[in-house]
Amino acid sequence: MNNQNIFNEIRSKIDIVELIGEYVSLVQKGRNFFGICPFHNDTNPSMSVSREKQIYKCFSCGASGNIFTFIRDYEHVDMKGVLDILAPKAGITIDNNIVSKKVDKYDKLYEIYELSNKFYQNNINTKEGQKAKEYLKNRGIGDDIIKEFEIGLSLDSMDSLTKLLTKKGYDALTLDKIGLSSNNHDLFINRIMVPIQDENGRTVAFSGRVYNKKSDHKYVNTKETEIFKKGNILYNYHRAKEYARHDKYLIIMEGYMDVFRASSVNIKNVVALMGTALTSEQSALIKRTSNNIYLCLDGDGPGQKAMMSVGEQLEKMGLQVKAVCLTDDEDPDSYILKYGEEKFRMLIDDAISFSDFKLSYLKKGINFNSDLELSQYVDTVIREASNINDEIRREIILKKLAKDTNLSYNTLEKRLEDYLADKKKVKTEIVMPKVKTVKLSKYDKASYGMIYAMLLDKKYLDAFKKQSLYFTPQLTRYLLTEIEYYYKKYGNITIADFYTYLLDKEDILGLYNNIINYADNDIVSDEAVNDYMKVIKDYNEGLEIKRLRELMMKTSDELEKSKIAEEIKLLRIGE
Ligand code: CTP
Ligand code: MN
Repeated sequence: MNNQNIFNEIRSKIDIVELIGEYVSLVQKGRNFFGICPFHNDTNPSMSVSREKQIYKCFSCGASGNIFTFIRDYEHVDMKGVLDILAPKAGITIDNNIVSKKVDKYDKLYEIYELSNKFYQNNINTKEGQKAKEYLKNRGIGDDIIKEFEIGLSLDSMDSLTKLLTKKGYDALTLDKIGLSSNNHDLFINRIMVPIQDENGRTVAFSGRVYNKKSDHKYVNTKETEIFKKGNILYNYHRAKEYARHDKYLIIMEGYMDVFRASSVNIKNVVALMGTALTSEQSALIKRTSNNIYLCLDGDGPGQKAMMSVGEQLEKMGLQVKAVCLTDDEDPDSYILKYGEEKFRMLIDDAISFSDFKLSYLKKGINFNSDLELSQYVDTVIREASNINDEIRREIILKKLAKDTNLSYNTLEKRLEDYLADKKKVKTEIVMPKVKTVKLSKYDKASYGMIYAMLLDKKYLDAFKKQSLYFTPQLTRYLLTEIEYYYKKYGNITIADFYTYLLDKEDILGLYNNIINYADNDIVSDEAVNDYMKVIKDYNEGLEIKRLRELMMKTSDELEKSKIAEEIKLLRIGE
């Protein structure tokens, strides 16, 4: 069996609606299923999944494809990674060499990080690591957690890692680039080393914590490198994503210690922000795990402030956000240590909606003696309340607000009604997902329609050839060549499998994608195809006439000129 056949077999064994349904919640409408597209920032269900055709397409961003492209783009893996995920689901064991691992120009950097990670982990288990282990043990971090998170130790020496890497043959230039070594000196010395992995589990950076001496810097982190952009990474994401999908929610904490501690009490669906603001890349990663997000940042001022901004960002992405409330002097780590697993799980169960969190947060900071602050506060609260779909809760909020501020309930209610009316207006405007309108020329439409017809039925390909028609745009010609080749080799084409065939031909795949997105029904009539062919023929002749005219202008030979004129006349009669 060749590769295409294996791919086709896997594809035929996995239903795309079920597969995508594991990642995105889908609702059936008519013949298709709809969900929120994970490939662009959206809150409308713009992605449709077809069980008949076994493909998906997004009306808003134009993404489309089959199960393989979905997994590739969702999980950010190469084709080997895609097969690792899908072959077992299809119950097929495959030869590891069926797709060669993509050669990555950063392979060397990953290799160095892998080596360093092993080195650090080994260190912590030697005699030199005793003190570090003791420190961790005193904080309740045992060997199991050390192993699970691959915690290591950089030695109390200026160059032990640099020496090791140089011995392995890595040149000085590379070593300078990677952020572990500089001028033949180690950058991490005598610290507990926490490896940071990317979404695929490859180690791309380290964070080193002091443990046995004073230092102005509690943590030292790897600088940004070609494989490490801090804003693209969430700590523990590659482990937590599976748990979050299974548990149907993800918990966001601040630091490594919080993640270690949570894991030690078997709460594994946790990532850490590593103390920074949330970037849009990180929000996108979060969105890929679950629609339900629990924010559990530190209870102190900065932690609560971060909850506000992180929560707002996540809500904008259409996620359901809840807030886990810790008291001022607690972080998840200290809370679990102090009160234990049960109490912490109760805290999670008691998490409040993000809008409730926002209301209490806003109230805390307010100076009730300042008219400006007070009126802004009142306005924000009412605006928040207008987002709540529960009349009783709205009334409770307003009553409380009236009491807190000494304003009359009627005044507040009037403002609320204004906001509710505004919202209604907006709502009716956006019921339908925005359809991305690409302006297609008459010729484009005909050629898209023609290709689509050829994919559904070979007889249209034959008819096209029989009329000696051709496509002028180069990419369309290439696509046609691939279609002909595929028919010759496999006898027939399924729309979903043809995606797989085009996977390594990026440009052509892009065009195919547009065609599939453009075509919106599966019935092609002979009549429609004849129309397409006529448009294509006219277009080709128009171009030919233009070419001949230009040629005629250029020649001075009268005989030649009249010959060309005759040719043009013939083409015109054909019109
Ligand atoms: N952080 C950092 N550099 C610092 C302080 C913090 O990079 N100087 C990041 C780390 O990713 C850290 C997170 O911010 O995990 C949260 O900080 P903090 O709560 O202070 O650290 P913990 O991980 O909780 O560590 P510990 O409990 O050992 O202080
Ligand atoms: Mn902390």
